[in-house]
Amino acid sequence: MAKLDKDSLGNTFFIAIFLCLVCSIIVSGLAVALKPIQKLNKELDQKKNILRAAGLLASNATESADGKSIEQLFAEFTVRAVNLETGEYVDGVDLQAYDPIKAAGDAAQSISLSSDEDIATLRRRENVSLVYIKTNGAGVEKLVIPVRGYGLWGTLYGYLALDGDLSTISGLGFYSHKETPGLGGEVDNPKWKQRWQGVRLYDDLGDPSVRLVKQRSPSASTAASYEVDALSGATFTTRGVENLVNFWSGELGFGPYIQKLKINGVAQG
Ligand SMILES: Cc1cc2nc3c(=O)[nH]c(=O)nc-3n(C[C@H](O)[C@H](O)[C@H](O)COP(=O)(O)O)c2cc1C
Repeated sequence: MAKLDKDSLGNTFFIAIFLCLVCSIIVSGLAVALKPIQKLNKELDQKKNILRAAGLLASNATESADGKSIEQLFAEFTVRAVNLETGEYVDGVDLQAYDPIKAAGDAAQSISLSSDEDIATLRRRENVSLVYIKTNGAGVEKLVIPVRGYGLWGTLYGYLALDGDLSTISGLGFYSHKETPGLGGEVDNPKWKQRWQGVRLYDDLGDPSVRLVKQRSPSASTAASYEVDALSGATFTTRGVENLVNFWSGELGFGPYIQKLKINGVAQG
């Protein structure tokens, strides 16, 4: 019987191809097996970000001060799909699977924004987005809306939370951005984020009026109630954040929905 030449070219190729096949099967198998876990982690992360923006979960905490888990806290919210143009709820949307950001990239599910309209540099805006509402006996306690807009280096993605009066900001937090740590990256600084709490979002005419300023107006003035400190050395990020907050709370964002919610309450949006 002919003896196998281990060092032959054919044998080397065979071993290399065999190893490649085994490795690719292991990697693909792991990718498929871990997909559900990745999906769960992504969902958990999204819930954390929504709860943090609403001020119901401290940054880095995994449960509330009174011991409620993320799942328990999030279960107190109702998720609804909203038609941004009409401000009305949309039924029949798979809320788990629907991705507003993906929809914004699809011409059939979004509108193109003119340069005058596009203050947050989005190019397109989805027709349908999601809202997260927490109610109590008296009505809305918190409303959380997804927001995004361009900073200096890229798009900032986050959530804006409003108090039950639907005019006062409860919190703002970003879960993804490309701004420079120490400059625009200070959007993640808990001290700066705290400054959003209690800021007025709409003026008396119902127009979004948040301003990020280097110098605050006198504290007793009306102007001061719409102001948040600008990020020092990060004028572009600051402008981007101001624009994205005002865009998403405005006429082309969730403005029509929020107005309807103020008048009709949660049931009718
Ligand atoms: C390496 C580097 C990174 C920067 N990152 C940011 C940033 O994340 N956000 C921002 O607004 N400006 C950033 N800047 C600064 C801007 O280029 C610009 O100078 C600044 O926004 C002006 O802010 P000021 O008017 O408050 O000084 C960066 C500059 C450099 C050199």
